[in-house]
Amino acid sequence: MRIYREKDYDAMSRHAAAILAAEVIHRPDCVLGLATGSSPEGMYRYLADWNQKKFLSFREVRSVNLDEYKGLAPDHNQSYRYFMQDRFFNHIDILPENTRVPDGLAADAAAECAAYDAHIRALGGIDLQLLGIGRNGHIGFNEPSGDYVKGTHIVDLAPSTIEANARFFATPDDVPRQAFTMGIGCILSARKILLVASGADKAEAVYQAVCGPVAPHCPGAILQLHSNVVIVGDEAALGKLTAAGVSVCG
Ligand code: F6R
Repeated sequence: MRIYREKDYDAMSRHAAAILAAEVIHRPDCVLGLATGSSPEGMYRYLADWNQKKFLSFREVRSVNLDEYKGLAPDHNQSYRYFMQDRFFNHIDILPENTRVPDGLAADAAAECAAYDAHIRALGGIDLQLLGIGRNGHIGFNEPSGDYVKGTHIVDLAPSTIEANARFFATPDDVPRQAFTMGIGCILSARKILLVASGADKAEAVYQAVCGPVAPHCPGAILQLHSNVVIVGDEAALGKLTAAGVSVCG
């Protein structure tokens, strides 16, 4: 695991964008596993800018997103499909048919999960999986629990996740209670993992992910078992790690 510390959110975003851009330049038809949320937004802005400047192209890239709220339509302004279109896909040259996000309105949720996993397999697996991390250590929407779930599945969102995400909705009651998420097995199958984290409220989760026991009560800690993980965080998010003397670059 390599950990890079950047001064602030903007520097973290630029560094993470450079890592993702390197993957796309090196392998133009790569399969990217993408994430939503505040953490990667700045990174997407850099990538869109570099795409518009023709430094790199997403024309052959295929993408699969980590998760989606159950019950939200793709055009709902808080759905993760909407987020991806609005923050990234609409600003780059990726082909719409090459992007996939779980269908939040799927009538048969189990069939949607199975189809999602089959799609990832048909793509040949994920080359680079981008992750954020929840304050409770979740990755994707794999919430702290007693078990790891391998494949894409429906999860009940933890109260702390509902609370954290309520900032995007009119009221906390509007936050969906369930979501589709890739499982831990899908995430670990990615050939490379890039985790971005910003802000002091992530310091504990990042510390536990890197140094804590590998157990499903902190889903992010499973990344310790993957052989190719890069974490890019700002000083605040890496604060507890550096205070504990864990060696980081930068
Ligand atoms: C989003 C996702 C989540 C977020 C996490 C952090 O697709 O899978 O695990 O990465 O909740 O969210 P932010 O970045 O908003 O703090």
